[in-house]
Amino acid sequence: MPLLIKNGRIITATDDYRADIYAAEDTITRIERSIDESKLSKKTEIVDARGKYVFPGFIDPHVHIYLPFMGTFAVDDYESASKAALVGGTTTLIEMICPGPKDEPWDAYQLWKSQAKKKAAVDYSFHMSVVRFDPKVREQFRRIVNDGIASFKVFLAYKGALDLSDEHLFAAMTLAKELGVIVTAHCENAEAIDAMQRSLLGANRAGPEWHGPSRPPVVEASGVHHLCSFAALTGAHVYTVHTSCDDAVREAMNARYRGVDVWIEAVAPHLVLDETYAAQADFEGAKYVMSPPLRDKRHQDVLWNGLRARSISTIATDHAPFTFEKQKKMGLDAFTKIPNGIPTIQERVDLVHTYGVTKGRLSLNAMVDACSTQAARIFGMYPRKGTIKVGSDADLVVYDPKFHSTFKAADSQSKVDYCAYEGWERIGRPTAVTVRGEVQARNGKFVGTIGRGQFIKREATHG
Ligand code: URP
Ligand code: ZN
Ligand code: ZN
Repeated sequence: MPLLIKNGRIITATDDYRADIYAAEDTITRIERSIDESKLSKKTEIVDARGKYVFPGFIDPHVHIYLPFMGTFAVDDYESASKAALVGGTTTLIEMICPGPKDEPWDAYQLWKSQAKKKAAVDYSFHMSVVRFDPKVREQFRRIVNDGIASFKVFLAYKGALDLSDEHLFAAMTLAKELGVIVTAHCENAEAIDAMQRSLLGANRAGPEWHGPSRPPVVEASGVHHLCSFAALTGAHVYTVHTSCDDAVREAMNARYRGVDVWIEAVAPHLVLDETYAAQADFEGAKYVMSPPLRDKRHQDVLWNGLRARSISTIATDHAPFTFEKQKKMGLDAFTKIPNGIPTIQERVDLVHTYGVTKGRLSLNAMVDACSTQAARIFGMYPRKGTIKVGSDADLVVYDPKFHSTFKAADSQSKVDYCAYEGWERIGRPTAVTVRGEVQARNGKFVGTIGRGQFIKREATHG
């Protein structure tokens, strides 16, 4: 059905103007000051955006949906994650494929793709994790890239599970350079963390409040330094995921000044939550255990300022949903057994609007850049995604900046049993969210079609 969005204030990463937007089918075909609806087909769906912003569909470039991890599985599936993403204004997501060290990459890729097929209502792609790199896997990674996956993921953390040896890291980055794909990286140091975890547990420091001290900022900074050194040696382009602290941002910026092609991602939890949340009594802190951990509050200013200066490129979520009652409590006797992750896929855009834009930390244009446009550019989807242009997909978010409420688990579409931002002030919400011209969410409700989400093939852009 054709779509007309009328009377809105269109905000992209660079522009701010009033116009109507028309999509005959999947893509935007007209953007004009005023489009006469009486001349359009009677079947046209008309959305009145008077008094509202119209943003390009938001892109979350770092989520986990199907995730076997720390002895359990993340609770969302593509149906619940899509609904949560859409009501929160996210129309495209990039999920991390995280196989085990013995799994074959091609099989893992097929498994992850099968989870999304027929269940996704958002458009989606994947980053392909390299957890082992031997001659047998080389051709499989080439095939995966040829199939439209233009990014790798590596973990410099999670000893014995997802971490990669230096020998394999170097080989993977050399292949990434050859294929022109960017390497996204979880930057810490698996060995140092393992040693510190054992020492803390040995001293009976086993509660969730000890998770942070087991992986301090210097560990993350050393991971960023390590990744960037390998990037300098191999020429690969790199992207530091969930960059949480001043120390790590500085390492990436220093590498950039040395000529390394490095991009920086922040995630919503690190922008608004600090380490005191993970130290809450009665095991409540477990809800806030993620890696890298929540930091001292002073790091939040560095992240917001980096975003404002656009030296930090993106705001993702690192959505990794584990229930409090059944899954987080696996770590009642030791913080090392608490599944790591904070679910945020639904709340990201409203958090950034409430705590970034309305507090004067970020302009609307910078919000769009960080939550949509940069992800499309860095990961090879621009201008199909990430902007509002004739020819772009009609992924649009009509946003009411005057809506006032609070964040609550009762509104959540995710299967997780808590909201990390319960009771917090919330200013703004998406009132209509379209994916390729069809309204998929309205006023916090999913109204779309499960299975409509498409796999987005991405081109290598870092050659
Ligand atoms: O705590 C986190 N971040 N959990 C998900 C896995 C990862 O490291 O991204
Ligand atoms: Zn990570
Ligand atoms: Zn992650």
